[in-house]
Amino acid sequence: MSLLFSPLTLPSPRGGLTLPNRIVIAPMCQYSAINGEATDWHLMHWGNLLNGGAALLTIEATAVVPEGRITPACLGLWDERTERALADTLQRARQLAPHTAVCIQLAHAGRPPARCRGRAHSCCPKNRAAGKPLGHRPSPICPPSRHPPP
Ligand SMILES: Cc1cc2nc3c(=O)[nH]c(=O)nc-3n(C[C@H](O)[C@H](O)[C@H](O)COP(=O)(O)O)c2cc1C
Repeated sequence: MSLLFSPLTLPSPRGGLTLPNRIVIAPMCQYSAINGEATDWHLMHWGNLLNGGAALLTIEATAVVPEGRITPACLGLWDERTERALADTLQRARQLAPHTAVCIQLAHAGRPPARCRGRAHSCCPKNRAAGKPLGHRPSPICPPSRHPPP
């Protein structure tokens, strides 16, 4: 049997997790959140991927603060509103495939995030016209930067 289709145990002090195969879906930004909240797009996207046969799905880069998003339509997890949207949507998707494991990529895009206008962002057409940058540089005394000071 191919190693790809053999089980893999991820150890953990809490008992670990045994995956039935070694196929893991990489995180893929969908640029389809509204104010950081998961939407029906995510329900469809996750529902499809959870039923594809992979053992583990990684949820797209999920910003831990609003200004840490890559674009205004990135998924977020920074307050009860975004938590509720993510939990509800994921619960609905998992009802269709309860045996597929799920993990999440928590993310902060760093200094130049959350700006699309003026940047050739072919993968997020919805945001190309979106307004000013949400991110800022880390210090007001750093060298000249096109990013606004904090
Ligand atoms: C549509 C799309 C969205 C992606 N979003 C993310 C992301 O949210 N986080 C991340 O670390 N990588 C992201 N990536 C990169 C993929 O996770 C992966 O690393 C890349 O496609 C290379 O995979 P490969 O080495 O298996 O070919 C994205 C890739 C694609 C095609």
